[in-house]
Amino acid sequence: MPAKRHALIAGNWKMNGLKNDARLLAGGIANRMAKVKKAPFEVVVCPPTPLIGLVVEIVKGKGVSVGGQDCHANVSGAHTGDTSAALLKSMGCKYTIVGHSERRTDHRETDENVREKAVAAHAAGLTAIICIGETFQEYADGKSEEVNKRQLKSSLPEDSNAKNTVIAYEPVWAIGTGKVATPEQAQEVHALIRNDLAKLIGNHESQKIRILYGGSMKPSNALDLLALPDVDGGLIGGASLEVSDFWKITQAISS
Ligand code: PGA
Repeated sequence: MPAKRHALIAGNWKMNGLKNDARLLAGGIANRMAKVKKAPFEVVVCPPTPLIGLVVEIVKGKGVSVGGQDCHANVSGAHTGDTSAALLKSMGCKYTIVGHSERRTDHRETDENVREKAVAAHAAGLTAIICIGETFQEYADGKSEEVNKRQLKSSLPEDSNAKNTVIAYEPVWAIGTGKVATPEQAQEVHALIRNDLAKLIGNHESQKIRILYGGSMKPSNALDLLALPDVDGGLIGGASLEVSDFWKITQAISS
């Protein structure tokens, strides 16, 4: 990864943990981060929505950012159960994930929905972590490139730049399965994504924008994945629920 892109290690806690688990997890990460001077990586944790306020308080002043796992496309209104990007921002979030494959599947979110959510995130002053990635069937059918190209083009707002947007490539077949893309596969897709980004938002921004890998990243494979020239960090699910595993992944950046 070129030094000009600051690595991002993002923990996606998904629907895991109760209040006390969040206290321990956020506290453990914050305490480790607070001891690091000039970290060569940025850390963001994305807790379940009701825990965001608590986590923001715990990590305050410790160099850890907080993100939502999703946001609604509208600023406010009659949308029971949803959370606006503006509310995430007012609670102290810096990021929000949009278009995670679990949202695309569980809630039938389309590329168009994802783009609208990313637009809302940008309008609220959040950095959108836009997720894309092919399913196992698409991968087996040799359609990975086509699927990622389509999802990227249709999910990315026009005003996207390296400040307000991060892309997460998460092959669906690797999420929570223990199967992980080989470094060769990951680098190939990340380079294609960066190439497509150059066409969509210009070469300059495409060189600065961070592209994270997600899908069974853990301490044992992080070093190989994070060393790749076009992999600028990770979006981590399972391994982000253990302080020591998550922290070990961040250390793959510094080593
Ligand atoms: P995983 O999840 O690390 O558990 O595979 C990654 C993600 O879904 O963001």
